[in-house]
Amino acid sequence: MKNNQSERKKSSMPLRITRKSFLGVLSLIFQEFMESLFTKFKLKKPKEEEVLSIVRLKAEPNNPNSVLKIIDNYAYKKTFLMNIGEEKGLLLENAINESAANNILELGVYLGYSTIRILKNLNDNSKLTSIESNNRFAEIASENINIAGLSNKHKLIIGKSNEVIPNLSEKYDFIFIDHWKDLYLKDLKTLEENDLIEDKAWIFADNVILFNLEDYLDYVRLSPKYTSKFIPAKREYSKSHPDGVEISIFNNEI
Ligand SMILES: C[S@@+](CC[C@H](N)C(=O)[O-])C[C@H]1O[C@@H](n2cnc3c(N)ncnc32)[C@H](O)[C@@H]1O
Repeated sequence: MKNNQSERKKSSMPLRITRKSFLGVLSLIFQEFMESLFTKFKLKKPKEEEVLSIVRLKAEPNNPNSVLKIIDNYAYKKTFLMNIGEEKGLLLENAINESAANNILELGVYLGYSTIRILKNLNDNSKLTSIESNNRFAEIASENINIAGLSNKHKLIIGKSNEVIPNLSEKYDFIFIDHWKDLYLKDLKTLEENDLIEDKAWIFADNVILFNLEDYLDYVRLSPKYTSKFIPAKREYSKSHPDGVEISIFNNEI
């Protein structure tokens, strides 16, 4: 008897895990390990607290670019921060503008960096809801967003995506997925099952190469419900490690 599973068509990955992308992940693990040692032995404040202190001290109030620049400078010069970064951040901004989205959902906020990039491109009729599970990151993000002068079109929900999503009641026409990588596919399916995705909505997923998100990519590339394209880019704050984003348009008619 034939095994349907083994016969299942796979999407052709744009890039297989290479030595470079493996080293990209390894270097992040090393930096995170060193950071946790330094903070554990109280040799320094957690990096997220340091970033907030610098933003408080140096950012020009109501100037989103000044907040973004401080966060980017810290990540380039001090230590890695898991923001979407400059190159992919601009891809995100372009997608927000091209889609003309009105009701946006963000999964994974961290310091509010991508949130600020989204919010600074919204028109008068659009709004953003973000979900972040870590209390302290949510507080730091709120303050950064407030300093950037962008709080008025933003709702930040603190909680785990799998607990928050089933309680959402509006449909979204743009969904930015950038939380823990093993949740991308599960949460996308939960959004579908709860009828929260508008027809022709854009689903923008970060880090699909860095973390080799093959199951997610297989799903959006092979399902007739999505028309999907990959945009290659470098990992945030790196000139050499490969990464990329996947943009998938949802077709509710199918
Ligand atoms: C990669 S960071 C987000 C970066 C942010 N989008 C940016 O580009 O500035 C991932 C964030 O997702 C959060 N997170 C992880 N699992 C989550 C979940 N199940 N629900 C909500 N947030 C989650 C983490 O606490 C972390 O702050």
